[in-house]
Amino acid sequence: MSATVLILGSGGREHALAWACQQSAAVSRVVVAPGNPGMANSGVETAALDLADLDAVCRLADEAACSLVVVGPEGPLVQGAANRLRASGHAVLGPDQGPAQLEGSKSYAKSVMTACAVPTARFATVCTERDLLAAIDRFGGTVALKADGLAQGKGVLIAGDLAEARQAGQRWLRTFGRLVVEERLFGPEISLHALVSGETVCALPLSRDYKRRFDGDLGPNTGGMGSMAPVRCPWAAADLADLAIAPVARHLVAKGHPFSGVLYAGLILTADGPRVLEYNVRFGDPETQALVGLLSPDLYDWLLATASGRLASLDEMPLVSTHTAAVVVVADRYPDGGGAAQGILPMATNHPGRLFWSGVSGRPDQLMAGSGRVATAVGIGPTAALARTEAYRLARSVRFSGASFRSDIGLGSTTN
Ligand code: AMP
Ligand code: GLY
Repeated sequence: MSATVLILGSGGREHALAWACQQSAAVSRVVVAPGNPGMANSGVETAALDLADLDAVCRLADEAACSLVVVGPEGPLVQGAANRLRASGHAVLGPDQGPAQLEGSKSYAKSVMTACAVPTARFATVCTERDLLAAIDRFGGTVALKADGLAQGKGVLIAGDLAEARQAGQRWLRTFGRLVVEERLFGPEISLHALVSGETVCALPLSRDYKRRFDGDLGPNTGGMGSMAPVRCPWAAADLADLAIAPVARHLVAKGHPFSGVLYAGLILTADGPRVLEYNVRFGDPETQALVGLLSPDLYDWLLATASGRLASLDEMPLVSTHTAAVVVVADRYPDGGGAAQGILPMATNHPGRLFWSGVSGRPDQLMAGSGRVATAVGIGPTAALARTEAYRLARSVRFSGASFRSDIGLGSTTN
């Protein structure tokens, strides 16, 4: 066999998926589009592409004669990229536009959770100030406010008290026109990824995303500062998938919109049990950078089976018995951004499968760090502590002016 895989996207997640697919004996070529020059520096083929141009996406998939297209980010899925690619005869990992609304619309996700009796925070969808204030009062003043559309991690505001909830709620309502107001929940958060093909669900190992910018979970929310996998949790991944994923998969089949791809539930483990905070319809970033170390070299077979409707025919997924830690190296001004690009000092060695590039520009042999997430350094080891040590050693080798990372990835109660 000599399969070609096309991966759409340009971040650390896509670099990690490309590396995992390269480990498969069945795969002879992996192309990431548009990718980034750091990937090219690590031996991954990239191709220029505007992901918003669905004609160009289909053309590239046709030209590459690929056996599998993996859609990394949510944007193209919500725009209907998977529908278009499937209509052109491609096997696609990623849901059609309808089921992609699980991530594209918070109110749709909430309505599906209600219909499927999936445990989640109590909520109200509000369009008027009167309903907003009534909902805030009903949930005791401390609430999560959510914009009802894709917001790239910036669409959620956790109000500290009643005054902030009212003030921010009114401001957001004016900006977005429609909000989901949720009761605020407390507990550790975990990420549950599952491959889903129709009603067939295969839970992947549990992972953790460190969302806040600074040590001790302080500072603003970011796209993700680090990850650990697997995480210790009182619930098995398969049981959580029965609770949070399988009912949704069945519901979508019954509605005539079967899901095909990765469904990822962001869960919070409250004193009353697990609750779903959100669904994403793709792999998480940076969780994927940690997960691939547990899943390769067989990941390609599983992704292809999911995309081709053959997931039910596979046996149990073989997992590498190890621990992984992922530390994201960012510009010190992240997530505010701004400032000039900084040159990255060349590193002594290449680190395939360990260092995944994201926000870089320039030439492959002369990388420039952007103002966001620059690279994810991954450590793999027999224990979480050893994986962590290795990840930090590698993170320190990514050197540019203003390079920064959290120092507490892998410390804390839900890891190890
Ligand atoms: P979401 O995009 O809905 O996952 O929200 C982003 C982050 O906001 C989550 O990972 C949580 O840290 C936090 N969050 C969202 N909803 C709630 C909630 N109801 N209670 C507490 N924290 C929340
Ligand atoms: N790790 C969070 C996300 O990918 O949305």
